Amino acid sequence: MKKDQLIIFDTTLRDGEQSPGASMTRDDKLRIARQLERMRVDVIEAGFAAASNGDFDAVRSIAEAIKESTVCSLARANENDIRRAGEAIRPAARGRIHTFIATSPIHMEKKLRMTPDEVVAQAVKAVGWAREYTSDIEFSAEDAGRSEIDFLCRIFEEVIRAGAKTINVPDTVGYNVPEQYAATIRSLIERVPNSDQVIWSVHCHNDLGLAVSNSLAAVMAGARQVECTINGLGERAGNASLEEIVMAVRTRADVFPVETRIDTTQIVPASKLVSQVTGYPVQPNKAIVGANAFAHESGIHQDGVLKHRETYEIMRAEDVGWGANKLVLGKHSGRNAFRARLQELGITIASEEQLNNAFARFKELADKKHEIFDEDLHALMRDESVVPETEHFRLIASRFHSETGEKPQAEITLTVGGSEQSTCAEGSGPVDAAFKAIESIADSGCELLLYSVNAITTGTDAQGEVTVRLAREGRVMDGQGADTDIIVASAKAYLNALNKLHGGGHKLNPQV
Ligand code: KIV
Ligand code: ZN
Repeated sequence: MKKDQLIIFDTTLRDGEQSPGASMTRDDKLRIARQLERMRVDVIEAGFAAASNGDFDAVRSIAEAIKESTVCSLARANENDIRRAGEAIRPAARGRIHTFIATSPIHMEKKLRMTPDEVVAQAVKAVGWAREYTSDIEFSAEDAGRSEIDFLCRIFEEVIRAGAKTINVPDTVGYNVPEQYAATIRSLIERVPNSDQVIWSVHCHNDLGLAVSNSLAAVMAGARQVECTINGLGERAGNASLEEIVMAVRTRADVFPVETRIDTTQIVPASKLVSQVTGYPVQPNKAIVGANAFAHESGIHQDGVLKHRETYEIMRAEDVGWGANKLVLGKHSGRNAFRARLQELGITIASEEQLNNAFARFKELADKKHEIFDEDLHALMRDESVVPETEHFRLIASRFHSETGEKPQAEITLTVGGSEQSTCAEGSGPVDAAFKAIESIADSGCELLLYSVNAITTGTDAQGEVTVRLAREGRVMDGQGADTDIIVASAKAYLNALNKLHGGGHKLNPQV
């Protein structure tokens, strides 16, 4: 029997970016968007264009670059947001506007301070504004998971009549359970008179750990679009994880009446890229993309797998892209090989000068670390994409001393707004000493919320990738730094977060 297509709508670049501290630069977003396109995602939600000029530019650049996937911008149901979204997606080969308004009693009364009639009227107007830009319009009823079904039926019927082509039913606060959520979807499809004119979509948050289960239950009830993110990134506990949805549908083809277009071999590279860009590590036992997802520890399992793989494996590691990130370059690789590999990874080089600088840094790295993997190249190019003028604080030199029985010390030289300053500090460890030295110069008043180190690849010569999360006056920013010396990587990450806090203006969160 011919299966329906399940549309995979990836919102890593929008809802994923709403994770605390996980802000991404335009270049980061472009790299991720290219990887999503390579993976054959149907719709890429590239951002919330009205949030800031930077977000607008990112959505527009993605709309210009991506040819195979639909590019979508989120917009609240007001004229300004929709016009910003419409302008941002204008260059897209296929562009979508995703507009939303809250429909639960608590959100309408306490957040919007609007009556249900006003909410319906605003939603219909929003779809009308969106139609001036595209016929591909998605409407979401925010907090649908806690909304009254009669009201949902009413608003959906009206927005479909106004021209919406996809109706999304978000469980915004992750409150639903699978049977109940599936029953809601089934009932909406049955009761909304013009329901056959649209694709029904689901968007589940993971507050109770049920985002994937709820989404899959909804697919069984008739949903044909799932909104999800790589590694389950997203607000609070995150969104439904793309890799789990896609692999469940593929592995249990006997159960699901749908199939996706996803090239599953691109899943692990996408997961690594998103983790690297955001600094959110993937837990080792995470399904599909965790380092242990295909590792068999017990002797009995190992024996079984060796005799017949399917005794303990329901999927093949290579089908989701494990093993794809082979050794790519080394000390003797030339400039052309370096350029070609960057192109294969979807990394664009702005100029010959940027290529020369990046190649020089690649050679330095290859001297310290003989095998250069794709992950190393991503980290190297992320550092390379930082525009020096945006670096108010820049690391010039560092020296660390740590000896048994002595207090560790760090000597740091920075430029601050172009002028050089040096200082020395002691700490409980060398990283602590480095941060204290930086702070004695920067005097930022920031609070350190998170510090984490991850080896980018395997082996003791691997680069350490550090994430630092800083908070100041209600703003939270993550910084990343990579180096074979993890204390240097830590100093770079701290300065990266400080520079973001120093440079960036406020940006709107669509759901606040
Ligand atoms: O969780 C949510 O309700 C959303 C909407 C904007 C779709 O992210
Ligand atoms: Zn959401």
